[in-house]
Amino acid sequence: MLRVSFGLLLFVLACTPLGAADDVFAAAKKLGKGVNLGNALEAPNEGEWGIKLKELYFAKIKEAGFDSVRLPVKWSNHCGKDAPYTIDPKFFARVDWAIEQAEKNGLNIIVNAHHYDEIYQQPAEHLPRLLGIWRQIAERYKNAGAHVYFELLNEPHSKLDDPTWNEQIKHLLKVVRVNHPQRPVIVGPSFWNGIWRLPHLKLPEEDRWLIATVHFYNPFEFTHQGAHWVEKSDKWKGTVWPKNADEEKKLVAELGQAAQWGKENKRPMFLGEFGAFSAAEMESRVHWTKTVVETANQLEISWSYWEFCSGFGAFDPETDQWREPLRKALTGR
Ligand code: BGC
Repeated sequence: MLRVSFGLLLFVLACTPLGAADDVFAAAKKLGKGVNLGNALEAPNEGEWGIKLKELYFAKIKEAGFDSVRLPVKWSNHCGKDAPYTIDPKFFARVDWAIEQAEKNGLNIIVNAHHYDEIYQQPAEHLPRLLGIWRQIAERYKNAGAHVYFELLNEPHSKLDDPTWNEQIKHLLKVVRVNHPQRPVIVGPSFWNGIWRLPHLKLPEEDRWLIATVHFYNPFEFTHQGAHWVEKSDKWKGTVWPKNADEEKKLVAELGQAAQWGKENKRPMFLGEFGAFSAAEMESRVHWTKTVVETANQLEISWSYWEFCSGFGAFDPETDQWREPLRKALTGR
């Protein structure tokens, strides 16, 4: 009797997405299927981009069969300008709440630093502040469960180029690793985490708890047609996917390059963002999304769809219902 229940306990432990992983490859695998809780906490203030996180969202995401959420956070708008760059306690409490919601619903959660606009333009001047931000996050979540993953910075770009970013990674990791020697930390190359920049990403060899991340929005004229933040994207409206069989092959090949880099560099890969904006027609969005998902699954790359319930949304926040074709393309059921 005792043996049966012990076996059962081991089985349950092995199945829970929240148990600690033996190595970083297992940790990356646990991320599985995910969705970005975008346009909420990375807006200048939550709600200003139309989205406020609700308890219900976490339950819906779990129920649909996802394993994780990625939480974009604009810390830089909620902390002091001078050392020690104190993070607003109310804002911190909101992130605590999101982490608790993820845990309560059996979801892993990636906490990142998003839209730190100033550091992309003035990397050297802003590094101390980003270090200060991570020092506080690392301290606050030092006892957090294994369901919490960190991601150092979303889409470095502009003056935060490859060599500059590679240097910053080392400093940031030093701060995080004080409290988190074995927490998975996600980090991607400069140029908006583009797959083609992976060869320029230099990760500290001795740190074996890193997951490399990339973002994928190709062809951009398709995924970003009518996106108001992309200049002249109205001209791309009506672009369908695929335009020809070559486009499918190209997509598969490009994601394959990410997998290949991971193999060669002995790092697990994570596709942290991909999605097609709502101005594209639904049939093409579904086909593109399904193709990315199936390719990533085949390559054994965990992923997170951009995003849950805003402009790319797989979920309609007006009705609190999934947009079924997109949900199905993502979860495969
Ligand atoms: C940005 C979002 C944007 C998305 C697609 C993300 O990395 O943070 O603001 O909507 O990419 O362009």
